[in-house]
Amino acid sequence: MKVLLTGGAGFIGSHTCVEFLERGWEVVVADNFSNSKPEVLNRIKIITGKSFTFYEADVTQRSALDKIFTEQKIDAVVHFAGYKAVGESVAKPLMYYRNNLDSTITLLEAMETHGVKNLVFSSSATVYGENNPSPYKEDMPLSTCTNPYGWTKLMSEQIMRDAANADSNMSVVLLRYFNPIGAHPSGLIGEDPEGIPNNLFPYVAKVAGGKLPKLGIFGDDYPTEDGTGVRDYIHVVDLAKGHAAALEYAVSHKGIEAVNLGSGKGHSVMEVVTTFSRVNNIPVPYDIKPRRAGDLPSYYANAEKAKTLLNWEVELTLEDMCRDMWKWQTQNPDGY
Ligand code: UD1
Repeated sequence: MKVLLTGGAGFIGSHTCVEFLERGWEVVVADNFSNSKPEVLNRIKIITGKSFTFYEADVTQRSALDKIFTEQKIDAVVHFAGYKAVGESVAKPLMYYRNNLDSTITLLEAMETHGVKNLVFSSSATVYGENNPSPYKEDMPLSTCTNPYGWTKLMSEQIMRDAANADSNMSVVLLRYFNPIGAHPSGLIGEDPEGIPNNLFPYVAKVAGGKLPKLGIFGDDYPTEDGTGVRDYIHVVDLAKGHAAALEYAVSHKGIEAVNLGSGKGHSVMEVVTTFSRVNNIPVPYDIKPRRAGDLPSYYANAEKAKTLLNWEVELTLEDMCRDMWKWQTQNPDGY
């Protein structure tokens, strides 16, 4: 099987690339390095000992996709490429809508022209919005996103749903990620955010590594067990395996399915901080700060559908996420 990974040099794309190569699948990566570094490609080769084809390409450009689909006999696409910073999407909504929707529509058009029928999409639990109670289940009504980034995921899902409904030979799996964290256990690939991280785990790793003085915990008065926010964290290696399971499902079925990739279990910010400190034997100084605008108190997945439909469930724990995140951080204190 030959698979195109758009955004395959990014955090989740690179781990998925490793997983696919280790399964013996042929991989073609397309990435424009808008939020990734060329070095990741070498690291993937070191981990797997395998080679793959790389195109430096912007998948909003039809000509770039035509070139790839003409030169390669692609069986399936995993579409990761997209902007993903929630705060930035609020400040620059048009940039987010233009990029994330252009890439979705252009990719679907190119797939149609070149007869490629199988697609797995990087969606997000953010599509459940603020009005659904946890655990989130795939058949819950959507449509109340709290930021433009979330809307681009929801709109892309809808566009893919309509495209799949119009072509009975298409097969699409929409993967709704919860909070992907951690890094490959080799410490060779991991998340490499530009500047000061917005998300909890990269921030904790920078504080532990002495690159930032203190973590701010955004709120300790939520209606949760210890008052801090609760999320469903998932190790990026488990997530990568979830993509392999989704792809196997996609190529052997028709139609469209949305599937949560989460553990089904929530962990609080405080639990993350204390687990990281304990597992890695390193202090993580913190202050309690006011709540961050737009944050929900608690959300986690109902993870049943992934088990029954894809035969996939998480294997790694919060301890594994903390240990692997720290290995990546200590081996690459300034990223790639
Ligand atoms: C957000 C997005 C999600 C995206 C994810 C990873 C929404 C609603 N959520 O999730 O779609 O997949 O980022 O990119 O759009 N926290 C602190 N201090 C910090 C940072 C975070 O206390 O410095 C807390 C937050 O308040 C929250 C938890 O840690 O309770 C997790 O936050 P974060 O890692 O930013 O992810 P989400 O906001 O859950």
